[in-house]
Amino acid sequence: MEKIIVIGASGQIGSELTMALRNTFGNENVFATDIKQATQDVMDSGPFQILDVLDVNAIREYLSKNKITQIYHLAAVLSGTAEKHPLKAWGINMDGLFNILELAKEIHISKVFWPSSIAVFGPTTPKVNTPQLTYTEPSTVYGISKLAGERWCEYYFNKYGLDVRSIRYPGLISYKTEAGGGTTDYAVEIYYDAIKQKRYECFLKEDAKLPMMFMDDAIESTIELMNADASKISIRSSYNLGGISFNPKEIAREIKKHIPEFEITYKPDFRQKIAESWPQSIDDSVAKKDWDCKYIYDLAKMTEVMLKEVGNKLKVKVG
Ligand code: SER
Repeated sequence: MEKIIVIGASGQIGSELTMALRNTFGNENVFATDIKQATQDVMDSGPFQILDVLDVNAIREYLSKNKITQIYHLAAVLSGTAEKHPLKAWGINMDGLFNILELAKEIHISKVFWPSSIAVFGPTTPKVNTPQLTYTEPSTVYGISKLAGERWCEYYFNKYGLDVRSIRYPGLISYKTEAGGGTTDYAVEIYYDAIKQKRYECFLKEDAKLPMMFMDDAIESTIELMNADASKISIRSSYNLGGISFNPKEIAREIKKHIPEFEITYKPDFRQKIAESWPQSIDDSVAKKDWDCKYIYDLAKMTEVMLKEVGNKLKVKVG
């Protein structure tokens, strides 16, 4: 029986991935950990422990006490916040990953999942239909840490046979747990503000097109990748994943179909420059060929679900 730890279980991905893993592997076999409290769902449905990925001894003890066989290491500082605290973000993102890779090697963990990002790409990368293998010269601290992390994941696979798997997530959109500090987070905030005040001031320009994905699709893809036979995994750095591409003007237009009074205004800040350095769309044909990645949400369907669910959360009926 697999025993799985999720590190960063209170975050945007972790809070949903923990519940999906518990559905598959059983509540008692999925150990949620984070430096902060998780959602009520996560804390009530199975084991939860406050744990810091930088505290290597505490993690080692927890892994061995609970006979953990798989690790999902999600804890990281995102792009916007990392630009404000570059060295601190570098420390958390890299030391956290090294702690996990070293422990996984030491105690013979069977599989590790670690998320990378479209942030590994930079100004020299082709922006449209960005290939799996291309120029990767990121200009953000977050992107540099993700690129370095990818190289180290591949290194641990080649050198030590560690079965580490990764996805370059596009911007992730969800309603259960809010993201924090990312450049793509405007596409989450916009739904909240549309419902609360029928207007949104966007920190990106109207034509800042970026690859995005609804969380259900991201979780589904992650589980597909982790279930795939190891012989199918040809990429040990990180897989491109496409999702849907849109800009602030297009998401605003979609919201207006449900909330006609909705208005968007633009006040680009430092995150605009980050967005400009990232691709507009992603070629994920390698992932599709290797392990059957699939997603079903387009902008219209995602907007419908987001407005309904955020509306429920805020106790406002939309439309
Ligand atoms: N969503 C992330 C960010 O904007 C990118 O991986 O930082």
